Amino acid sequence: MRAILLVILVTLTGWTAATNIEELDWLRERAKQIFRPIPTKPPRIADNPTNPAKEELGKMLFFDTRLSRSGTISCNNCHNLGLGGTDNVSTSIGHGWKRGPRNAPTVLNSVYNIAQFWDGRAVDLKAQVIGPFQSPAEMNNTPDRVEATLKSIPEYVQWFAEAFPEDEEPVSFENVARAIEVFEATLVTPNAPFDRFLKGDDEAMSEQQLHGLRKFIGHGCVTCHRRINVGGNAFFPFGMMKSPKADVRPPEDMGRLQVTGRAMDEFVFRVAPLRNVALTAPYFHSGRVWELEEAVRIMAESQLNAILPDQDVDDIVAFLHALTGEQPEIVYPILPPSTASTPRPEY
Ligand code: HEC
Ligand code: HEC
Repeated sequence: MRAILLVILVTLTGWTAATNIEELDWLRERAKQIFRPIPTKPPRIADNPTNPAKEELGKMLFFDTRLSRSGTISCNNCHNLGLGGTDNVSTSIGHGWKRGPRNAPTVLNSVYNIAQFWDGRAVDLKAQVIGPFQSPAEMNNTPDRVEATLKSIPEYVQWFAEAFPEDEEPVSFENVARAIEVFEATLVTPNAPFDRFLKGDDEAMSEQQLHGLRKFIGHGCVTCHRRINVGGNAFFPFGMMKSPKADVRPPEDMGRLQVTGRAMDEFVFRVAPLRNVALTAPYFHSGRVWELEEAVRIMAESQLNAILPDQDVDDIVAFLHALTGEQPEIVYPILPPSTASTPRPEY
């Protein structure tokens, strides 16, 4: 009788998982079938070979506010590398204080996502970059004006030539995109506790984080959130089982439907990558949810039709904290000065 009670207690508390080595190994093997650790070396991009000059140039362009029409907005405004690669506001503020319709996703590890943007409308980082330069609610610039700015600064002309030695016209909008892409590919965050666990370190995650991982798998979060970025790997409706409230999923943003025109893509979004998610509040494409606990509850209800007990929510949130990796160390670049022919800020 006592044994049965103990079994029930153990099952209810989920206490078995981390406490014995066999169970831990089983959990690790299971997890390795679903996820992959972030490699310690940044990836190479097949159609955009990197070199040190290109990477350094990409970093400068990422930080250079003069590539916006107003002269005040750089990629780093909204993808602040000191804040987990995001701006930590609901929806970003761009040119003329305009608010965009969506929350800024992190640029960290974005090289590992199957496609870029909440709706996946850009196939890769290179294709993505041309968007923000031109978007009226972001940098509100034109390719010509970006090129004119860069060509007016002799150091940039020289550095483009070094970064793209084979090109006859090294300073081009396309090469801006290429340079930023190779820089962004370096923005990866290896060695999160979860990665260390996957690689065999039994001490890397706390007991609660291990429970959280079991529950993340057990409740079916991994139907969608998988692979290297614990998401960023597929497209699914936000509201698979139950529509989230309109303030969390505003009815006017229909996600991939706006990209493909297919009715079946209504409210379909890219599965959010969950790497460093503890740093990137607020949550969802609307940026309306500030607490990770609430985001987990909303997910369980809308995607799995489940109301999770508080304990499970807390454990899963603890696990999500184990996804925070080593942040890239960025030395702030000293940018070359403007000249008399550099286009003046317009705002
Ligand atoms: C005014 C704020 C703002 C600026 C400036 C900005 N972005 Fe973004 N960025 C966003 C928002 C908002 C999204 C999401 C838009 C969407 O999904 O429709 C985004 C998406 C992205 C993504 C996709 C990430 C993912 O996981 O899907 C990348 C990469 C990115 N931006 C890089 C850049 C680069 C590089 C620059 C500079 C050239 C830049 N951004 C400038 C706000 C900004
Ligand atoms: C059916 C697929 C699916 C399932 C199952 C699922 N998710 Fe998601 N998840 C998504 C999609 C799609 C998004 C992006 C929603 C949006 O458009 O804002 C998302 C977003 C999130 C976010 C917000 C991340 C951010 O940066 O804004 C968190 C946190 C999250 N999911 C956790 C979970 C947890 C925990 C579970 C299990 C309880 C789970 N998800 C189950 C598809 C799923």
